[in-house]
Amino acid sequence: MSERTCLSIVLAAGEGTRMQSARPKVLHEVAGLSMVGHVLRAVSAAGGTAAAVVVGPDRADVAAEARRQVADVSIHVQTERLGTAHAVLHAEEALARGYDDVIVAFGDTPLVTPETFSRLRAALAEGAAVVALGFEAADPFGYGRLMMEGGALAAIVEEKEASAAQRAITLCNGGLMALSGAHALSLLKRIGNANAKGEFYLTDAVALARASGLQTAVVTAPEEEVRGVNDRVQLAEVEAIAQGRLRAPAMRGGVTMVAPETVFLSFDTAFGRDILLEPHVVIGLGVTIEDDVTLRAYSHIAGCHIAKGAIVGPFARIRPKSRIGEGVHIGNFVEVNRTAIGAGAEANHLAYLGDATIGEGTNIGAGTITCNFDGADKHATVIGRDVFVGSNSTLVAPLTIGDEVLIAAGSTITQNVEAGALAFGRPKQAALPGRGAEKIRSNKLRRAERKARDAKKS
Ligand code: UD1
Ligand code: MG
Repeated sequence: MSERTCLSIVLAAGEGTRMQSARPKVLHEVAGLSMVGHVLRAVSAAGGTAAAVVVGPDRADVAAEARRQVADVSIHVQTERLGTAHAVLHAEEALARGYDDVIVAFGDTPLVTPETFSRLRAALAEGAAVVALGFEAADPFGYGRLMMEGGALAAIVEEKEASAAQRAITLCNGGLMALSGAHALSLLKRIGNANAKGEFYLTDAVALARASGLQTAVVTAPEEEVRGVNDRVQLAEVEAIAQGRLRAPAMRGGVTMVAPETVFLSFDTAFGRDILLEPHVVIGLGVTIEDDVTLRAYSHIAGCHIAKGAIVGPFARIRPKSRIGEGVHIGNFVEVNRTAIGAGAEANHLAYLGDATIGEGTNIGAGTITCNFDGADKHATVIGRDVFVGSNSTLVAPLTIGDEVLIAAGSTITQNVEAGALAFGRPKQAALPGRGAEKIRSNKLRRAERKARDAKKS
């Protein structure tokens, strides 16, 4: 089918009032990607060669997101919402360029798979002029009904136009549609608005095609796929489905999830094999994880690469622009931010590593903090290989610490340390003979006296 050209028209001019949001509906995210982004990626994966997005007025943000997702995209502004066919016709300029296949998709229906879009195109390749995506609705209310005649699709009747008998039909219109490029414009231009809603219904293309002796077809998909989002309850339902779709192939590909329903992935998460994800792990955008990595419970990971055999967590946070080297151990309550950690290094407890480069085999002691921010600017900390940073050290950036340096526990280090040095960055210890015991004993006495007084009072 790849030799056939395909234009995808994505309708995204809806106001999304029920989202109660300053953000346009189609920019709300599912698995870390905007809904319109999901649609655009799915149609391109189905061989879509060009895309046209129909947006409402003043929606530069939607246009920008569309351009981020696909290279060849045109934006068309629909100022008045007069129906789905009216919206599609806003892309007339794109349609007029001439494509073999035309797909109409909805920007707020993000779960349609590339396979389904491919099946719609396959029906066009077999000679249909209009292909509807049908589904068996658990509750058909509100949907267009597919009128079948002798196994062929005769018409789509919208809820508001349907008779009682037609309303009993459960085979419904998923909304998206495929049209043959040769006939699309002439069919769309013949659609009128003499109906209950006074709208130009895209669905009328079916009966018009039939009246012109053209073939129509139905491709069916599970109801789940055609689920649209109108409010944030539906957004959460769609998110749950999307997460299920991401987890299953990850597990089949060699990722163990102890409690998959508690693990959250992003649309672009990439895994190797023999990875263990303990419960309550959240993986944000832009994460790649190599073989044999363990992410322990309650870790939050985003924008990073984790190399083979690393162990992260429990309760660890890896933030964007970080690279965790092979066999690295990141323990509990460690935050890593814009930091590269060399192979075999360890930061096992309670640390903040920001804007740092840490060499191979280096040990970061508990309570180590890189002070990367001076209140105005961020500065880098460069730590060499096989360094031992003693517990509770404060490393004030900009700072360079050479290879095999040993930093005494409790140090505040403000100046570069040359390789091999033992660095102390703390006041010299003082010890006054006998004074400790003296103080301890006098405290003990005072406590006893106070207790005796309290006992008398009561
Ligand atoms: C549409 C179908 C219906 C189908 C249902 C599935 C038509 C006439 N009806 O109905 O058969 O069962 O989807 O959910 O197509 N949009 C615009 N501009 C407009 C109108 C709509 O951009 O002028 C966009 C909307 O933002 C939305 C999509 O097109 O993303 C569908 O519009 P909507 O109003 O939800 O159509 P339905 O009445 O649900
Ligand atoms: Mg709708």
